[in-house]
Amino acid sequence: ARLVVLVSGAGTNLQALLDACADPAYGARIAAVGADRDGIEGLDRARRAGVPTFVERVKDHDTRDAWDAALTRAVEEHSPDLVVSAGFMKILGKRFLDRFGGRVINTHPALLPSFPGTHAARDALDHGVKVTGCTAHFVDAGVDTGPIIAQEAVPVLDDDDEDTLHERIKDAERPLLVRTVGRLVREGWTIESRRVRIG
Ligand code: GRF
Repeated sequence: ARLVVLVSGAGTNLQALLDACADPAYGARIAAVGADRDGIEGLDRARRAGVPTFVERVKDHDTRDAWDAALTRAVEEHSPDLVVSAGFMKILGKRFLDRFGGRVINTHPALLPSFPGTHAARDALDHGVKVTGCTAHFVDAGVDTGPIIAQEAVPVLDDDDEDTLHERIKDAERPLLVRTVGRLVREGWTIESRRVRIG
């Protein structure tokens, strides 16, 4: 199966997928890595693995919709079976989801529907929860609102700050993402869920 992975930062979730794909038994390869900005470690990780990269910056386009169209074209070029948003910090637009909807998954560092948005670890800490975690879900038109595929709980420690908590979440998030992508690749992109048939 062909994956395109979208990143915006350190790319440690991408690295976990790169490492998993090195084993032919995993059944997937990363056809390309896309980003919304230059100069991030996620792109360096892709280059070190010999994976093609592309960058589509919102500010290079007149409108958000033009960026969405450009991103859709850039991803389409690599004919993905599945698009993985791994720390990608932009909301994917209607055109993108019309083209790839149902085949886009995202990893989020909280137990959705709790703490959606861009600083989930901080929100969990500020709220004083004792347990948080990470979620792998299909992307829909909302923000972190698509059908949930997998979750894992992570404890919040009394002396945690945002960084120590997010690192502990990421320790669980990376294997969860690798397991989830592997499951989708093996089970043919849909997962029977009690409530809905997803994917
Ligand atoms: C991950 O926790 C992801 O869920 C969140 O940002 C982090 C990205 O980490 N959106 P990395 O770039 O994969 O290291």
